[in-house]
Amino acid sequence: MAPWAYTGRVVGVCFVCLGNICRSPTAEGVFRKLVESAGLSAQIAIDSAGTASYHIGAPADARSRRHAERRGYRLDSVARQFEPLDFERFDYVLCMDEQNLRDVQALGVPARHHVGLFRQFDATAPAGASVPDPYYGGDAGFEEVLDQCERAARGLLAAISMRLESSR
Ligand code: 4NP
Repeated sequence: MAPWAYTGRVVGVCFVCLGNICRSPTAEGVFRKLVESAGLSAQIAIDSAGTASYHIGAPADARSRRHAERRGYRLDSVARQFEPLDFERFDYVLCMDEQNLRDVQALGVPARHHVGLFRQFDATAPAGASVPDPYYGGDAGFEEVLDQCERAARGLLAAISMRLESSR
């Protein structure tokens, strides 16, 4: 969906990694399915982006898609680069690692935004935990990304649900 079509949704979430072909598309696909299951698709807009431009226009990495499909997730993102305008489109900008977070913050974050690490929403993850880049590794890395995204996505949905409840 085009970002401008998000207007009118209550909460916007953008997941960010380096290339926007492995980790953030996985986070997006996992969170979207969870949001659909909770019946909240009309209230939560979900997207992903990369801090780098290398893979603009590319589908999610075939390995990420294959591992995700085995768990019932469709990764249908098209890679794009994070841009300052995204701070207007999204309330939550959730990064996969500290470098992604620094790169996003360097663009100048409006004070009202929630910009941080995605895994901070996983209560079982240590403070400052990242989703490690699986790109140069094997199958286990892609499975680990899915495990971490599933746990953090549940915590994120709980946090946003509370926010939606309190805004009613
Ligand atoms: P991602 O993984 O940031 O999770 O999408 C990567 C994809 C591509 C590259 C690095 C990381 N790369 O160097 O091309």
